[in-house]
Amino acid sequence: MAHPMDMQYQEFNKAGPQNRRFTVGEGFLLKYICCCGPPIRYIVTAAAVLLSTVLLVALTVLVLKYENRISNPVVPEYSPVVPPETVMGQTGGTNFTLSGKLRIMQRKEWLAQPLAAPLPILTTPVPYVIISHTATEQCLKIAECILQVRTVQTFHIESRGWWDIGYNFLVGGDGFAYTGRGWDTIGAHAYGYNNVSIGISFIGTFNTVLPPARQLTAAKQLMELGVKLGKISENYKLLGHKQVSATESPGNVLYQELQKWPHWSEHP
Ligand SMILES: *[C@@H]1O[C@H](CO)[C@@H](O)[C@H](O)[C@H]1NC(C)=O
Ligand SMILES: *[C@@H]1O[C@H](CO)[C@@H](O)[C@H](O)[C@H]1NC(C)=O
Repeated sequence: MAHPMDMQYQEFNKAGPQNRRFTVGEGFLLKYICCCGPPIRYIVTAAAVLLSTVLLVALTVLVLKYENRISNPVVPEYSPVVPPETVMGQTGGTNFTLSGKLRIMQRKEWLAQPLAAPLPILTTPVPYVIISHTATEQCLKIAECILQVRTVQTFHIESRGWWDIGYNFLVGGDGFAYTGRGWDTIGAHAYGYNNVSIGISFIGTFNTVLPPARQLTAAKQLMELGVKLGKISENYKLLGHKQVSATESPGNVLYQELQKWPHWSEHP
């Protein structure tokens, strides 16, 4: 004997031209979802709820996994570059090697805003190197450091009204040096000393913590390179920013570290 619900919808289909026929899908739904009495219906409902929950969880896991992959991209190993033309040439083609690899991120690599006009030339070799910190978040990955350098440049241009990022160089917790105004342009980093110094700024805030070793190393190598290129005097004096301006920069802990470096000088 036919199921009562079957008969009911067959009746319905016969009822007249105004009642269209059920499609196969609708028939299926009527038969298997609306058909049954409480026990089976509850089981079907429970199974449906369970299945959707499992699907939802699986989807969430997939999305999270994908998101994670987006936010933690695999950074390809960046080959160390002291661009050969920088190392050679300006020292009359003298060959030399640095103690260790210095990796310099060029302006176009950190997506610097271009200069509207050339800035005043720095007379080199300079007698001073002045170390500051950016008083921003620290950065440990290339992408984070690029973002910081970009942000500092924008801040110096938009808020301070300078023509470019103030520092000659920056060093990041990623171990890279970042070219700011470079060796040959007067910076805006230490009032009264800009035209006689190279300003190197540590990305981060170092009142209570020391920069990572690779960040310290990058600064040391950068100074070594500056001397070898003839941009920094061989008997240069190394100063903390706070020695020439009323500032906490480069932060107490970093300042204490600087005092152990051979060229640090108590008096400007
Ligand atoms: C520097 O090194 C390169 C490659 O090792 C060599 O061809 C060149 O002659 C050297 N230049 C000087 C000035 O020593
Ligand atoms: C640096 O600037 C000061 C003040 O503007 C000036 O007196 C001094 O001669 C300049 N030094 C150099 C090396 O240009």
